[in-house]
Amino acid sequence: MRLLVLGGTQFLGRHVASAALARGHDVATFTRGVSGPPPEGVRALHGDRDDPEALPRALGEWAPELVVDTSARTRAAARQAAAVLGGVHGYAFVSSLNAYRGWPPGPVGPEDGEPTWNTEDDDYGPNKAFAERVIGARVGRGFVTARAGLVVGPYDYVHRLGWWLERVHRGGRVVVPAEGLAQPIALVDARDLAGWLVEVAEAGTGGAVNATGPADMTTLGSLLDLCREVTGGDAEWVPVPEADLLAAGVEEWVHLPLWLRQETARTAWDVDTTRARALGLPSRPLAETVHDTWAWQQQDRRPACSPNGLPRPGLPAELEAALLGSR
Ligand SMILES: NC(=O)c1ccc[n+]([C@@H]2O[C@H](COP(=O)([O-])OP(=O)(O)OC[C@H]3O[C@@H](n4cnc5c(N)ncnc54)[C@H](OP(=O)(O)O)[C@@H]3O)[C@@H](O)[C@H]2O)c1
Repeated sequence: MRLLVLGGTQFLGRHVASAALARGHDVATFTRGVSGPPPEGVRALHGDRDDPEALPRALGEWAPELVVDTSARTRAAARQAAAVLGGVHGYAFVSSLNAYRGWPPGPVGPEDGEPTWNTEDDDYGPNKAFAERVIGARVGRGFVTARAGLVVGPYDYVHRLGWWLERVHRGGRVVVPAEGLAQPIALVDARDLAGWLVEVAEAGTGGAVNATGPADMTTLGSLLDLCREVTGGDAEWVPVPEADLLAAGVEEWVHLPLWLRQETARTAWDVDTTRARALGLPSRPLAETVHDTWAWQQQDRRPACSPNGLPRPGLPAELEAALLGSR
């Protein structure tokens, strides 16, 4: 079928384009052309999603039957997509757990019982919720919104797992959050999510899905151990109590990526993924994800950048030195 990826050249969307090609679709991506080309074999259409003329102009006679939308961040982008693509058979929209009013901190129960944002704020979560409503209303039954949790894997330019891999590889004494090590976390490999998005679009599946790994899949400590195993080296964990991290100015999620303070972490990772599992969202072994991400990072990593102007993740050297110096 003719499958359009709105996005498709960076991380998740790139995997979507590859998965769609592998499943025999005629695939096009629609991007500004700023972040580079899509995978080989894909037709590259260009334009800005916020521009109402751009998408119809780029599509011309090529009428998509399926859409996977990995790039909607603005309300204008949502309106343009709704206006042009309302008639497709299947539209898989990549949303976020941030579409829920109550997340973070969560917990997040089954999709239908959880309210999403319904405000005018020009913020990430409210914009995702707006896009779900506007595009969903036009597409109807074949609209599925994947409220993604933490997405990792090769081509991850956000570089959260990537920062840990590099830091652990460098070895020596590594600051880790003392209470955070035992904290369950959940994540989804971009390749698992991408292949599944193509499949649910093909099937014309509808509704909302919490699209992340099972809540009990691992802990932060096990993930860091895996990073050490995969990268080799002599990293030695130096567990620093949460109170000391916060007193030193360490910002959760940003300075120590994937770490949330206990008060938030207790519920933030508790997300009901029963529907995702029932609809076949895979969760490959974490060791494979970590291994492949590290392999990619060593040969082909583009510079880390941050969507939405978020700060680049990682522990500043002076903070690390101060924390280690007192231990
Ligand atoms: N990473 C996570 O942990 C996480 C968690 C939850 C949800 N998500 C969601 O998952 C998705 C991740 O997608 P990705 O960034 O990996 O996807 P991607 O499709 O690989 O990359 C983003 C694409 O958007 C295009 N783009 C950006 N602005 C555009 C515009 N104004 N008009 C047209 N195209 C534009 C970029 O190309 P150009 O720059 O060339 O235009 C690029 O191809 C996002 O929707 C994000 O909200 C991520």
